[in-house]
Amino acid sequence: MRRWIARLLVVVACIVAVFGVAYAISPNFRADVAAIRGCEELIGNGPRQIADQRKDRFLGKVRDYTARCRGGERVIAQRETPWVDWSNYWGAGDASTRSWSLLLGHLSRNNRGIDGALTDLEYQRVEMIKFNLFDNYTIQDYVNGRDGVPGRSLKVWAAMRLPPTDPHYKEVGGAGPQLCTGDLIRYRTLSGICNDIKNPLMGSTGTLFARNVQFEETFPQDSATQLIRNRHDGRISLLRPDPQVISRELFTREQSAPAKCKEGTAGGSPADAHCDYVKAPFFNVIAAYWIQFMTHDWFTHLDEGQNDKAIMEVGCKTTRDGSQERPLTPEEIKSLGCRPGDRMDVGLMADTAPPPTFQAGGQTYLTRARKTTRNNNTAWWDASQIYGFSDRSYHRVKRDPSDSARLLLVQLPGHTTEGDKQGYLPTFAPNDPINAQWTGQEAVAFPDNWSIGLSFLHNVFAREHNSFVDEFRRRAKANPDGDSGLRDPAHPDQIIKNKDVTPEELYQAARLVVAAEIAKIHTTEWTTQLLYDEVLYNGMNANWFGLIRDDNLVSRALDKVAVDVKGRSIREADQTLWYSVFASGAGIFGLGSHKYASRPPGFLGLDRNAKDVWDIRNPDHVNGGVNHFGSPFNFPEEFITVYRLHPLMPDLLEFRDVKSPNTVQRDVPVVSTFRGMATQAEHDGGLSNWALTMGRQRLGALTLGNHPQFLQNLPMPRITGSATKQIDIPALDIIRDREHGVPRFNEFRRQYGLKTLTSFDDFIDHKLDPKTDSTELQRERRYVKKMRDIYGTHVCDDSKVITAAQELDGKPITDCLGHPNGSTVDNVEDLDTVVGWLAESTRPHGFAISETQFTVFIINASRRLFSDRFFTSSFRPEFYTSLGVEWVTNNGPTGIMMEQGAPNGHKEVVSPFKRILLRTMPELKDELSGVVNAFDPWARDRGAYYSLEWKPRKGAEADPAFRKQ
Ligand code: HEM
Repeated sequence: MRRWIARLLVVVACIVAVFGVAYAISPNFRADVAAIRGCEELIGNGPRQIADQRKDRFLGKVRDYTARCRGGERVIAQRETPWVDWSNYWGAGDASTRSWSLLLGHLSRNNRGIDGALTDLEYQRVEMIKFNLFDNYTIQDYVNGRDGVPGRSLKVWAAMRLPPTDPHYKEVGGAGPQLCTGDLIRYRTLSGICNDIKNPLMGSTGTLFARNVQFEETFPQDSATQLIRNRHDGRISLLRPDPQVISRELFTREQSAPAKCKEGTAGGSPADAHCDYVKAPFFNVIAAYWIQFMTHDWFTHLDEGQNDKAIMEVGCKTTRDGSQERPLTPEEIKSLGCRPGDRMDVGLMADTAPPPTFQAGGQTYLTRARKTTRNNNTAWWDASQIYGFSDRSYHRVKRDPSDSARLLLVQLPGHTTEGDKQGYLPTFAPNDPINAQWTGQEAVAFPDNWSIGLSFLHNVFAREHNSFVDEFRRRAKANPDGDSGLRDPAHPDQIIKNKDVTPEELYQAARLVVAAEIAKIHTTEWTTQLLYDEVLYNGMNANWFGLIRDDNLVSRALDKVAVDVKGRSIREADQTLWYSVFASGAGIFGLGSHKYASRPPGFLGLDRNAKDVWDIRNPDHVNGGVNHFGSPFNFPEEFITVYRLHPLMPDLLEFRDVKSPNTVQRDVPVVSTFRGMATQAEHDGGLSNWALTMGRQRLGALTLGNHPQFLQNLPMPRITGSATKQIDIPALDIIRDREHGVPRFNEFRRQYGLKTLTSFDDFIDHKLDPKTDSTELQRERRYVKKMRDIYGTHVCDDSKVITAAQELDGKPITDCLGHPNGSTVDNVEDLDTVVGWLAESTRPHGFAISETQFTVFIINASRRLFSDRFFTSSFRPEFYTSLGVEWVTNNGPTGIMMEQGAPNGHKEVVSPFKRILLRTMPELKDELSGVVNAFDPWARDRGAYYSLEWKPRKGAEADPAFRKQ
């Protein structure tokens, strides 16, 4: 016995000695001990409280010891910048940010970094749920609460009732309590009503956009408050600073050979045509068009492609000498290349009269933003761009006369691939309800700004719709008496057999399936490539599948706690903070779609064999999984701002043929694939060749100096009052945001709980070594100077407080932004939001977007799922069919398939988009065999852990894209 004790002591002594030596000689080891001490302090102090007041928000900046625990000194070194801390945590970047560690598992450095980053993101989401929801209809209820229920816990609003003018008014209950039933709850309705069965109007076509910023801060150019006057001092207006000057100075893509680009119009042989653009190495052109495809599902300010009838000037008029504004000289106009003769139609507005106010808690509030605009699309993620959002748009959708469950696809002569046999969308017929400029395009519900990528994606999803219908028909033929899973709420006890499913029922189920597939692709595939790092891989997958990825007792319990406990409580913290936290564990998708009978003593009353008692007759089962956090769902105006992603577009597309994927056959100007020309190009090139073309090419990086030349010179023949019949779309992006009253960049950030910038120099990436004077550093300095020239500087007055949303070191933020009184400061408060987020060069690893844009997505991308019954409690066979649920869950009809190996350390299922591409274009099998994420350039070697390197995968070495940069 004594011998054993002696041996044990020797072993312990050896371990202590080894650790002691390691501590003495290894800085890494010592740093780890310091970091672990940080963790001890973090644990000792407990979690940070969610702020009570807007001005006390966490700003993405953690305490020193937390920073040390999660990323060591690297995080500390960047603490003084305005940018979020988590991007410097261990494991949050590429392989170089992964680190050896004393501790293992979730205590290891890398996992402390990743888990810590996810915690920060959850804090941001919860704070935004608390501080950033402003609905133009219901703010009074939100602030005051109703009948003893606090505002954030309210779930039903009078303003979300259908008005008497709605054709379904009587059906939902007329003047009495309104509840959607019967046919209105079976499918996604055309106008988007009855998604929330207790709030029929919510998210429907023509309802007002919401806001994520306090109404008082909207329309800063109107100088309506003292804070705004202090902030901008009358310097800004619709055309000040001049939008075309901003476009030409800050957005123009520099060209090494302008004669080969010809403002984006030069096409033909790659030897003759060339346009430079800054490329994002890890994101392809399909991803660019994908997001245009998405925006056409989610929102539009235009009504049937029309703005207001009035015409306006769009700049190219003024510039600034120091603090003085003056007209541009003819020479300056020439050298800038802008056009004073351009005209555009004014944006549509809804309410323009000053809003009424109300009092609460001794404070005066606006009942809505100073002006409002309408979302002329359904706000739901319902594939409305394909299937319609109004009667008129539905009349553009063509169904197959031989089986009206299918969409009409036609054979094109000479198109013979396996995919081609599935057909192409037909073009508009002469009597279709369209605008003249849409003539010749494919017939779809949302035809505006038609592009080659939209044509591609609409064709792919029309084929996917039909493959679902065909598979259903095949199974129904094999088993006609089988239970389809569908139920008619009017006859809930009646099984609908496969053979009895009507074409209309099948068409609508296919729409549900296609919309859910799109949402799944966007959440788990597009976004994880847009934000290409381990943190967001985990975060986005958690949004869909939950942190607990399996359907087990723990995930069922979390679902139950979120929906049945927190979701039913009237405490605000339960409805917001705790709901969001528990939903992250269970996954938002499918929340509340099962109701397991409690049979104690199972886990939290759950039992592995418990029966699912979800019942279509129970409105609280049908609707129970949604949570609007006290504010009816619609997109906020600020969301559109961060989707003004025009730099994603290259000027030229490198056209390839599947037969010879490593060869670029010709360069095709994007502008020659606009509107009806897109359809022609799609037909000429063939769907799978366009897939390959866009799949291999990198998209444009979202940065200054990278807007497509063709969009600055876009033909706009319909504008009658225009001398040029052209428009600078990037300049228009600036004008539209100003028309919509989006706060300027710094206040925008403060409103979202991000730190204030104190000068244009804050845009320079602090990680770049100032001594090396690299090309990138020179570029960033050049743009800082240009911003200063355009937006100007002023002598500051420290007595003027400029915001109520944030403080600086415990004091009000003033006109001096922390600089001494009377010093010259940048007019950084005037910076347009789009310019600001494009200028952000400090970004988390693998982020194609900036942290400001991303913050807007955190809240709105989550809400888009949280609020939609068909993605939560109504994700059920009763609506989708059993095949539909299986299809969405397994990414198709043939079960889950697995990728080989473990990309980025994960076992991966073959992704939904890749499965769809393979189903709709089987001829891409070889090309896609090595592709894990179809939004990553198809010929790129993904390398090790989240590499952004641009090098070819095996077999693509000859691809010229890897030769020229
Ligand atoms: C061929 C490519 C494209 C062309 C020709 C194009 C053209 C246009 C035009 C003409 C407008 C309308 C401006 C107005 O009157 O307000 C617009 C708006 C917009 N575009 Fe694009 N665009 C293209 C690609 C994209 C892409 C890839 C995105 C990515 C998200 C995008 C996002 C937007 C957004 C968010 C708006 C504002 C819509 C609204 O106000 O509701 N566009 N675009």
